[in-house]
Amino acid sequence: MTARVLDGKALAAQVKLEVAARVATLRARGVTPGLAVVLVGDDPASAVYVRSKTKDARECGIDAGDHRLPADVSQAVLQALVTRLAADPAVHGILVQLPLPKHLDPDQVIDAIPPHKDVDGLHPDNLGRLAQGRARFVACTPQGCMRLLGLAGVELAGASAVVIGRSVLVGRPAALLLTNASATVTLCHSRTHDLSEIVAAAEIVIAAVGRAELIRGAWIRPGATVIDVGINRTADGKLIGDVEYAAAAERAAAITPVPGGVGPMTRACLLENTVTAAEGEP
Ligand code: GUN
Repeated sequence: MTARVLDGKALAAQVKLEVAARVATLRARGVTPGLAVVLVGDDPASAVYVRSKTKDARECGIDAGDHRLPADVSQAVLQALVTRLAADPAVHGILVQLPLPKHLDPDQVIDAIPPHKDVDGLHPDNLGRLAQGRARFVACTPQGCMRLLGLAGVELAGASAVVIGRSVLVGRPAALLLTNASATVTLCHSRTHDLSEIVAAAEIVIAAVGRAELIRGAWIRPGATVIDVGINRTADGKLIGDVEYAAAAERAAAITPVPGGVGPMTRACLLENTVTAAEGEP
């Protein structure tokens, strides 16, 4: 069997069209959705992500601004910027690009974002609501994973799902979303015993560890659906995922490519969250 390739780029293009239509409706009512992206320091990968997020937003008619601070900025100055954006009525969504330089505490920064502007879904209010099964803003990457599972047409209720990686940004919210959709979820991480056996039993695999090809193709259960969140750069500059793609594609029913799978959907879900914030819902 060769897996169906889940085209995140094509699905994201469709989502962007829907977002652009919602933005047009808002603008006709005199509301221009505003997104503020905060980038601290000059990590090249983060700079690329921020540039593409603001470019996508502008293409949909969202007024996107990036706010750059030097790598040695103090916690107080960063908090002051977030507090200013929080009070700005033209800003509907705030995203602070992570990771922050080591001397800064991301939790304090995230706590300063008003939950109704937290389009990244990282504020304790939003994560807590997700845990309660009454989500408002959900982190963009796990949301993108769920949309790709929808594209695959896989039945989530009752399915065995494994999430590898327990980050607050991806793994934990992905496990909660799957739980809320009635999947039976195992959340694995770097300390997990017998990872290969847990993966081998799963009908759904979400890999979000950030370790190139950690998940071997031979582990994949025949007919499984595989969502690969990893973006790892090889020595020769190629991007590869957390899953050994070619071997996994021999066994899976459906799989996301890297690049062109989860990445574009993460960005599309940020646009959706931003327009939702500007609509004043939920
Ligand atoms: N760094 C990598 N992905 C993300 C994301 O989705 N949001 C934020 N804030 N930082 C990130």
